Amino acid sequence: MKITVVGAGNVGATCADVIAQKELANEVVLLDIKENFAEGKALDIWQTAPVNLYDTRLTGSTNDFSKTANSDVVVITSGLPRKPGMSRDDLISTNAGIVKGVTENILKYSPNAIIIVVSNPLDVMTYCAYLSAKIDSKRVFGMAGVLDTARYRAFLAEELNCSPKDIQAVLMGGHGDTMVPLPRYTTVGGIPVTELISKEKLDAIIDRTKKGGGEIVNLLGTSAWYAPGASAAQMVEAVVRDQKRIFPVCAWLQGEYGFSNIYLGVPVKLGKNGIEQIIELKLNAEEKALLADSAKAVKEVMDALDAMNASVAK
Ligand code: 2OP
Repeated sequence: MKITVVGAGNVGATCADVIAQKELANEVVLLDIKENFAEGKALDIWQTAPVNLYDTRLTGSTNDFSKTANSDVVVITSGLPRKPGMSRDDLISTNAGIVKGVTENILKYSPNAIIIVVSNPLDVMTYCAYLSAKIDSKRVFGMAGVLDTARYRAFLAEELNCSPKDIQAVLMGGHGDTMVPLPRYTTVGGIPVTELISKEKLDAIIDRTKKGGGEIVNLLGTSAWYAPGASAAQMVEAVVRDQKRIFPVCAWLQGEYGFSNIYLGVPVKLGKNGIEQIIELKLNAEEKALLADSAKAVKEVMDALDAMNASVAK
């Protein structure tokens, strides 16, 4: 098994580190455009192998995609991160060019790879990778819901003073402030969360979850990396170990939930073939309305990308 992580910044390096520590592959290639950067990061992480006791061999490459040849899974983290005051959508034009080039180069050397996109704005960069990849959408999807539910679950664990391991949750929609955490599908050790927490406190946690990425940007002056990197690695694990895990994932919808030709966060089953099933929940009217709002926000940015591509093609 071979895994490539493109982008050796904080998210990419964390993702490669977690993948190595979990021994998800014999070989992990970290690639970055910045001279010697991926080599340095890979070397540093590889030197933890004797301490953390794993065999996974890490190597770095400065933009030489031939080194990534025959990867089974590729995680794309490349692109600029947010600065305070920026929305994820402000990154669209710069990051779209980067994601397009990376996707084309990856598939040149690894035509059978499964691609997991992490770059922002997430839903639209996943769409961008899909347009460039021209492969089955089951093999091109985005990491957002695992991270967003992780934040939601961490906040709930803190509030309820219980183990985060016992909190299960579903969250849908785009990776932005319109995301839709679903309290009706949130349980704590099998108990509906609504039986354990007041509506007021739950609403505050949902609001904090929606702005969870921004909270970190405001604290650090740049975007988060530990939780995003670990979340992407968990999706890699589900694929390479064919775990058939149920995660919220940014997936290409063709009629599911009444949406078509849009990348949006929905619960899916992840296994060796990538997205093996999109799970359709029976949403109530309020949940449907929130999801429609979120889809509208994502579609506006997808349309902006389409307009940019159309003007380039002229
Ligand atoms: C976040 O939500 C980086 O978008 C990512 O932190």
